[in-house]
Amino acid sequence: MNLAYWDALADRFDDEVLSIADSEINGKLRSAIRRASRIGSCVGDFGCGTGALLPTLSENFSNVLAIDFSSDLLRLAEERHGTRSNIQFVRHNLSGTRPFLKFVDVGVCANVLIDPRTHIRERILRNMLPSIREGGLLLVVVPAFESLLHTYRTLVRCNVRIGVRRATAVREATDLYESEVQSVVEGIVTLGTAPTKTYMYDEARHLLEDSGLEIVRVDRVEYPWDEMIENAPSELGSPYPWDWLLTARMPE
Ligand SMILES: C[S@@+](CC[C@H](N)C(=O)[O-])C[C@H]1O[C@@H](n2cnc3c(N)ncnc32)[C@H](O)[C@@H]1O
Repeated sequence: MNLAYWDALADRFDDEVLSIADSEINGKLRSAIRRASRIGSCVGDFGCGTGALLPTLSENFSNVLAIDFSSDLLRLAEERHGTRSNIQFVRHNLSGTRPFLKFVDVGVCANVLIDPRTHIRERILRNMLPSIREGGLLLVVVPAFESLLHTYRTLVRCNVRIGVRRATAVREATDLYESEVQSVVEGIVTLGTAPTKTYMYDEARHLLEDSGLEIVRVDRVEYPWDEMIENAPSELGSPYPWDWLLTARMPE
């Protein structure tokens, strides 16, 4: 998941990358952004991609910094949202040697801390945090490992319901699990094309607590079943697959 990976994905980004801003069905991310906007006027969208979050951020904050290291994705973001005069597009490598040093009241980081390499995720976090002011907020979205297990279990339920023998349904879901999950301990899963870091609830909390942030709340941002299950039955309902959304406060 280096720069070349993200640049090469630019043409297929909308088809291949689940953008939680476009897909969320329970409004948790939008509400968290609205709540966070009460503490200040400047927000940074760290790893903005093609900018799915930018309209919401632009409507809730006076100043928006859209930050990404992929010039191809940043160009698409600017083509789509550049007419909004309160957005500034900034190219910066968050896993490089330099911290991002423009100050914001609120940082948003949606599905960016997903590189399978621990040291890359640590660097991104380390380079992002100094730009969020003391007492400011960080909203982090990460894929939920528990959601994946919930999906395998739901697959079994669906297949049994349409008459597949339970043992067969379990074997099929297990085969899928074995082809996707590379490491349970590390939470590394091949989602789409690339190995991706997923997080269990406590692990996601520790990610921020270990950097000195105070967790304010944790929400599930739900998205539709058809993102996870091909031809998902229409009656498949809640609990939907989800990402974790953590709202955390920087130390004063
Ligand atoms: C899965 S996409 C998420 C995009 C957007 N936040 C969204 O939710 O639609 C991950 C984004 O993080 C960016 N990214 C990954 N590593 C980065 C780094 N080291 N510095 C800056 N941006 C990075 C990628 O270029 C990509 O745009």
